[in-house]
Amino acid sequence: MANHIDLTIDFCGVKFKNPFLLSSSPVSNSAEMVAKSFDAGWSGVVFKTLNSDRLPIVHPSPRMACIDYGAKKGVAVQNVEMISDRPLKDNLTDFLYLKKNYPDHPIIASIMGFFSDEWAYLAKAAEDNGVDMLELNFSCPHMCIEGAGHKVGQAFQLLEGFTEAVKNVVSIPVIAKMTPNITDMNEPAMYAKNGGADAISAINTVRGISGVSLDDFVPTPNVFGKGAISGTSGPAVKPIGLNFIASMAKNEELGLPLSGIGGIETWIDALEFILVGASTLQVTTGIMHYGYRIVEDMIEGLSDFMAERGIDRIPDLVGKALPNLHETEAFEVDRQGIAQYDLDRCIGCGQCYIVCQDAAGQAIEWDAEARRPNVIEDKCLSCMLCQFVCPVPEMISFKEMPGDWHRRETAVMDSSLEKDVKVEPFTMEGPNECVI
Ligand SMILES: Cc1cc2nc3c(=O)[nH]c(=O)nc-3n(C[C@H](O)[C@H](O)[C@H](O)COP(=O)(O)O)c2cc1C
Repeated sequence: MANHIDLTIDFCGVKFKNPFLLSSSPVSNSAEMVAKSFDAGWSGVVFKTLNSDRLPIVHPSPRMACIDYGAKKGVAVQNVEMISDRPLKDNLTDFLYLKKNYPDHPIIASIMGFFSDEWAYLAKAAEDNGVDMLELNFSCPHMCIEGAGHKVGQAFQLLEGFTEAVKNVVSIPVIAKMTPNITDMNEPAMYAKNGGADAISAINTVRGISGVSLDDFVPTPNVFGKGAISGTSGPAVKPIGLNFIASMAKNEELGLPLSGIGGIETWIDALEFILVGASTLQVTTGIMHYGYRIVEDMIEGLSDFMAERGIDRIPDLVGKALPNLHETEAFEVDRQGIAQYDLDRCIGCGQCYIVCQDAAGQAIEWDAEARRPNVIEDKCLSCMLCQFVCPVPEMISFKEMPGDWHRRETAVMDSSLEKDVKVEPFTMEGPNECVI
């Protein structure tokens, strides 16, 4: 591993020795667990969301279901877990223990209240017991009560008010954790900023249904015969996390530091979040699947990548992909290409032929004797479906064609029918406003 690489990151004035943090969940539920994670290499923790002891918290049983896909176990996890069921005093005692024994590892208390006073009470209690930052949980997907969990994340003025209530009583930095169960995160993020938030973290779990049992027709997890729409996490939600982080990072008016969450399992996942604008990263499902030790690979992989690219510091990577991220209208569609095959490496499985026939340009002929595909170049749509299904890595690649190259028009099956087609050419007359 490259030793000269500096993985430290300053997040709202708080220093982390690397960007890898536990996110608020069962992986950050007690001092004992968090201490073990720090020993493994995690730089900081967002502790499991505190409750104020006002209401009893009882988790449903069972509280999780796993979504497998083919041979991949845990492509997503479905959970119906609540916020911390531990007494507030126990959690606060844990903060004191961790601050005493791991003074260089920042502790972030996640809190969730139902009223301004409750938010302020939890914030003050956490600050008084040594935490370095707060994360406001505006995003728990299982709250059925208006004014709590993701319902706050969807009620922007409430979110601003609760942020303000917290900021009025503490001096440590405050992160607003957003729900992905909306279309545009920039709007609530701006409300959080107006309330005084110093940073944004995203995403919490995505509301979903992981599966339905074919035996008893109960959506999973099956809680004694009942299922519910609940929180989905893990690799399947990574594209959603990247989308929200990137769109907030591109928003100059927002201009807040971002903590990226959602499906991070490897150093590559982590780096992708950094490249679209996150400066710290938080992980739950990856740890639930493989344990705290995955941080070793994250540290080593990221350090080696940086050494190879001659990049010494994390801030030099943050947002590096953003200049390449555009609206689709920016694409140069006069530049076109095709799929190109390295037939010496072909194993003759025929999968490319099947998908090209059934889902693409029908641009492949199949030599049944030689068991090899033959691409009809001017029919290839460059969808690259053949590359996705090909089991041989890098056998199929994309090749740009010269500017004067043209794709063949899609054939009409029986052109003798053409004269019978009933359609007038489209014309635009009068005002043509788009009505939404
Ligand atoms: C079982 C479970 C419990 C969770 N509990 C909390 C919580 O108490 N507070 C919170 O802010 N997020 C909670 N989360 C959400 C995670 O912190 C994280 O935002 C989400 O799982 C996406 O990250 P991941 O794909 O790395 O798991 C929980 C997630 C899971 C799977």
